[in-house]
Amino acid sequence: MNIHTYEKLWLVAAMLLIVTFIATITYGSVGLGIAMVGDQQPTVEPTELSDDERFGDPRVEQVGENEYEAYVVAQTFRYQPDPIEVPEDSQVTFYVTARDVIHSFSIVGTNVNTMAIPGEIAEMTVEFDEVGEYGVVCNEYCGPGHHDMEGELHVVP
Ligand code: CUA
Repeated sequence: MNIHTYEKLWLVAAMLLIVTFIATITYGSVGLGIAMVGDQQPTVEPTELSDDERFGDPRVEQVGENEYEAYVVAQTFRYQPDPIEVPEDSQVTFYVTARDVIHSFSIVGTNVNTMAIPGEIAEMTVEFDEVGEYGVVCNEYCGPGHHDMEGELHVVP
């Protein structure tokens, strides 16, 4: 083997590494239960949220024995529903969108933190084991009321 062949091998190895790296970033979040924004998202027409079957009536819905779905709308400068009420020992899949501008949906003290983007639906599944109360805050600057944009999440017995 001459030097030239080694160089080619390294090039191939480097390419493989890059491809693996990109694949990890792209598909790494699948199966972890928390979907990142940037995954392929279902979309929703922001101007027609009121007529949308899910977001026209923001709510928590039971879909299985301990499984719930929460449809959350972020808008200047509040969340709907508020408070969000879920039972303890539940698994909740949040679907979050925004009505007007970009907000975030961040549950204080947890790693739940997603952007809420008009037209996009962020999805994440969270388990709530214990009764408690959490604050929901917006981490994306969205206007003069941004710092007061707060909601509550209650995990009830
Ligand atoms: Cu909504 Cu900042």
